[in-house]
Amino acid sequence: MVSLFDGKTVSGIGLGTWQLGLKGWGAGYEAKELVDALQTGIKNGLNFIDTAEIYGMGRSETLIGEATRDLDRKEYLIATKLAGFNASERRVKKSLTNSLGRLKVDHIDLYQVHWEPSIYTSIPELFKALETEVKEGLIGHIGVSNFSAQTIARANNSMKETRVESNQIKFNVVERPDSKLLEYMKTNNVKVIGWSPLAQGFLSGKYSQDRKPSGGVRRINKIFSASNFDKYAGVLSVFRRLSEEKKASIVQLILAYEKHLGILPIPGFKNSEQVKEIVSANSLELSTREISSIEVSLQENAPLETSIGFYPRLLPNFLARLGFLFI
Ligand SMILES: NC(=O)c1ccc[n+]([C@@H]2O[C@H](COP(=O)([O-])OP(=O)(O)OC[C@H]3O[C@@H](n4cnc5c(N)ncnc54)[C@H](OP(=O)(O)O)[C@@H]3O)[C@@H](O)[C@H]2O)c1
Repeated sequence: MVSLFDGKTVSGIGLGTWQLGLKGWGAGYEAKELVDALQTGIKNGLNFIDTAEIYGMGRSETLIGEATRDLDRKEYLIATKLAGFNASERRVKKSLTNSLGRLKVDHIDLYQVHWEPSIYTSIPELFKALETEVKEGLIGHIGVSNFSAQTIARANNSMKETRVESNQIKFNVVERPDSKLLEYMKTNNVKVIGWSPLAQGFLSGKYSQDRKPSGGVRRINKIFSASNFDKYAGVLSVFRRLSEEKKASIVQLILAYEKHLGILPIPGFKNSEQVKEIVSANSLELSTREISSIEVSLQENAPLETSIGFYPRLLPNFLARLGFLFI
């Protein structure tokens, strides 16, 4: 089996598109600008587009379908996600067909299970159903998101000819998953796709205790708490100093550093200006001295360890599905 992450196929930085769901991100997120921005990214070589069936309840996938309508399918890779509450043997086909329709493509390059399914779901039956879709050519590769090492192992044990190639988890300079999960993924050749690589804009350096972003999504994100602005002031000041020395933005340096750690960051964006910065980050090299000054600042202010288990696994799927209608 040839891996999607063979070092050639996928750009070093991808594009996250939760923001194209147009819900909860606050002022300044407009469909037309987001579509233009996505096209700018793809035309400049960022070929890995991450989305999900739940972003804006299909809106993100629909806008990606519009943005890519006139592009050659070889120019971009689609990584979408099957919601945890649809992740059962019975519902895979329907969700997959709907995503293909909205995205206007005949196959998904990486199909990810968005979070660990309800405890009432059979993991082996789910992954056997996904493997069938690989055989039928509707899915190129299988990935997961927010999965523990144990559940990845169970998924792999139930498939014969394919395996879980990636786990998409929250990973940025100041928020990391536990080291045991990362160790398992490294040993078993499961690629880290890092969601929230900019900590939802906290790491851009433009926010402060007195200037926080608008929108419900970020209002409830604890990273924007007063104590974290204090805790990470030192880390951000190192990036600010490097930014002046190197004539690159803080965002570019953050993404270049995360890429250096071997993960695939998938930053979100709101306009073409931001995407152009992400494009330049993809070719930015950091020197050994620059990397070591970042690492010293992180030793002084250790990253927060984040949990992967915050989705409603105890709820039966139909109740979890209802719950998502209200957010
Ligand atoms: N698998 C999962 O469970 C999961 C969960 C969350 C996200 N994701 C994926 O990960 C992607 C990214 O994570 P995220 O949505 O949490 O956000 P993020 O990438 O950490 O932050 C994105 C935000 O940073 C700001 N930004 C981007 N480029 C910038 C630039 N050049 N200069 C200044 N600010 C810039 C923008 O916000 P402002 O300019 O408005 O401040 C943008 O919306 C999502 O789109 C989604 O695809 C997956």
